[in-house]
Amino acid sequence: MRRAGSLAPMPLATLRQVLDEAARGGYGVGAFNVNNMEQLQGIVDAAVETDSPVIVQASRGAIAYAGPNYLRHLIIAASESAPRIPLVLHLDHGDKPETCLMAIELGFTSVMMDGSLLADGRTPSDYDYNVTVTREVAEAAHAKGVSVEGELGTLGGIEDGHGSGEVHLTDPDQAVDFVEQTGVDALAVAIGTSHGAYKFTKKPDGEVLAMHLIEEIHGKLPETHMVMHGSSSVPPELVDRINAAGGKLESTFGVPVEEIQQGIRHGVRKVNVDTDGRLAITAALREALNAHPSEFDPRAFFKPARAAMKEVVAQRMNDFGSAGHAGDYEVLSLEQMAARYAGSPVGA
Ligand code: G3H
Ligand code: 13P
Ligand code: ZN
Repeated sequence: MRRAGSLAPMPLATLRQVLDEAARGGYGVGAFNVNNMEQLQGIVDAAVETDSPVIVQASRGAIAYAGPNYLRHLIIAASESAPRIPLVLHLDHGDKPETCLMAIELGFTSVMMDGSLLADGRTPSDYDYNVTVTREVAEAAHAKGVSVEGELGTLGGIEDGHGSGEVHLTDPDQAVDFVEQTGVDALAVAIGTSHGAYKFTKKPDGEVLAMHLIEEIHGKLPETHMVMHGSSSVPPELVDRINAAGGKLESTFGVPVEEIQQGIRHGVRKVNVDTDGRLAITAALREALNAHPSEFDPRAFFKPARAAMKEVVAQRMNDFGSAGHAGDYEVLSLEQMAARYAGSPVGA
């Protein structure tokens, strides 16, 4: 059997391995948020079509929405349906160590401990708090072979319930100390992006996005995989389609794909995309509801929504360069990953 994590008969890959491989191949891997079956099917269909590894991530909100058991079994179904695809199940924005430990118990192969904010998900924390909680999670997770993402600096944007609303860009020297003290596998950096659809009022350039920080951090931490949160590109055609079908979104700009590609050239390996999938699904649902006013079979609406999710995710897999890399490697088991961590404990 090709894969050997612990969740399912057809188990899951770890973030550490998938990002190590991405670094070796010089590409980025999209991390797409999932809340329900159609989103997950769209993501997995895209991975199969483009032959790409994929990170499927669930927020606390997603776990609450779907219910932990539904989510867990949906992922099992996904991994059984696409046995060729290295698939990571990642916790997005864990608010406290207990949440990360719960996710590990559920079978997640990767967790984010977002200690850049206090457990309320809004108030910026101090550095010592961030180091303490992240290190605690890394020790527990690594003992089980599970990967850990930390965050240093804070993103803007509070409309989705995450973030302080103020931006504190990541300090490269502090990043070095943070990685050394916590042992994280991946580091989310704040370079001026924010969550949600309303990121920028004009196309962002070098003044707005601190891409130089990515280069600087990569120079100091060449082995650490960087994560870009808030990386939806907010395609204008999706916004226009939603509005043409009765929606009311304001004019807005996302992160241009070229900026993300520049990040990938300098060590960004995980690229978080949620909003683009939400926009694609909403556009397709609105159009289908308008086009078939007498239809009441929900499948008539969810089918185009799932196809729209697949289309935008496949596009990102091509954009980030992960397409074609699904078969590059054999997935390591959680036990193998745990043994690897045991050989190089934090601070050793
Ligand atoms: O980082 C935020 C993601 O877009 C998840 O959002 O908490 O509404 O599920 P959510
Ligand atoms: P977007 O809102 O830009 O899709 O960002 C998603 C994200 O960072 C999830 O952690
Ligand atoms: Zn995020």
